[in-house]
Amino acid sequence: MAGTNAQALELNEIIAGLSPTTMALLSRKGKAIYYPRRGILAQGAAAKDKAINATIGTAYGDDGKPMVLPSLAKRLNVDPSLAFPYAPSEGSKPLREKWQELIRQKNPSLGQQAISLPIVSCGVTHGLSLAGYLFLDEGDEIILPDLYWENYDLVFGNACGAEFTFFRLFQGDDFDIDSFTAALLNRLPKKKVVLLNFPNNPSGYAPTVEVAGKIVAALKKSAEQGNRIAVILDDSYFGLFFEAGLCQESLFSWLAGLHENILAIKLDGITKEEYAWGLRVGFISYATKNGTRKLYQALEDKTAGAVRGSISNACHPSQSLFLEALKSAGYRDEKAHNKRSIEIRFNRVRQTLADHPEYKRYFESLPFNSGYFMCLKLFDVSAPKVWQRLLDHYSTGVISYDEGNLFRVAFASTPLAKIELLFDHIYRACQDCAGDHTS
Ligand SMILES: Cc1ncc(COP(=O)(O)O)c(C=O)c1O
Repeated sequence: MAGTNAQALELNEIIAGLSPTTMALLSRKGKAIYYPRRGILAQGAAAKDKAINATIGTAYGDDGKPMVLPSLAKRLNVDPSLAFPYAPSEGSKPLREKWQELIRQKNPSLGQQAISLPIVSCGVTHGLSLAGYLFLDEGDEIILPDLYWENYDLVFGNACGAEFTFFRLFQGDDFDIDSFTAALLNRLPKKKVVLLNFPNNPSGYAPTVEVAGKIVAALKKSAEQGNRIAVILDDSYFGLFFEAGLCQESLFSWLAGLHENILAIKLDGITKEEYAWGLRVGFISYATKNGTRKLYQALEDKTAGAVRGSISNACHPSQSLFLEALKSAGYRDEKAHNKRSIEIRFNRVRQTLADHPEYKRYFESLPFNSGYFMCLKLFDVSAPKVWQRLLDHYSTGVISYDEGNLFRVAFASTPLAKIELLFDHIYRACQDCAGDHTS
């Protein structure tokens, strides 16, 4: 490639040699990006322990400590040296190692499969943007469910120029494996980018172990047909599983060593998993069959280069705070407590729907078993009209989707005591809009 930086060419050579699939999947920008080890960063690193270090763009006091404002520093219960200087573009090394260890703990089926060290992003959204930057060219197809997080439009549509191909998420009460399989097959093998998000936003659906097995089998079949597939896994709501029999691991576990033609790209973070929405710490991790440290290092370098060229590095205090929190005695119990609170609300939603068969006159739930949300399919009334009525007459807000005439209800954000009332309001607003007050 004429004009491509020599450091990018070196990374490309490594990647092409060790994983032709990954090379074929990289976008033009992905092929061109590199982590600039030889410029300012290298010279800064070379001067790190020298008597005089006049290299870096961080002000230090005469005592050698970061020149912070005490009125700001005193508000952070963390060593200023772990908060005020820049974090590395790839993220704090101890945090990356810890998150990798946690991925392994939470996904035991990974076994001995080598995976990359996670690169830290500024929240999961930024991780998704990085995946788009590295693997999607203008006009590339991205295959995703017809129920998806709205922001994918901006991340993959507006920013990358990707073309969306939807598969139907549901057929009756379960995952539409036929629609998914059909989207993966084509006459001639080609590059494919697939995006899966379980637990799903907006539906609150996650597959059972059995269905997860079918999804993985469909991807394997497509890979065996010669398709080269980047599977982007948006695991934002990982861990919030509320029903027996669900696949409690990320599909990353199963895809990591599945086939040389599959590159699994896991996006996760502390946003929902660790109840830290505004701290903005996400991670991007890679795995492919026979992936080696050398391959992953090259991919990590490219990803860190894309971080360097966009946000430079993610928020340092947030990374340090989370790492410290992991060491606290109460951490596990606190996390279990929050999950339990959401699960109790989930159960209350289920119970409320079961207690009110009359609701079926106007709405029914789509399958839901996990995450933050559930969806209602409205009949004989228009979702936008009912939505307006709910706001105006019942002081109640939900998300309305014209497409499919759906409501998304966030039980994770609704106090337990208001859940029955919420559904009562939805029912009444439907009655109002239908002009139907017989029941
Ligand atoms: C499916 C999904 N992915 C990603 C995100 C964004 O996560 P973050 O806030 O970490 O950027 C959200 C947030 O609502 C989401 O629902």
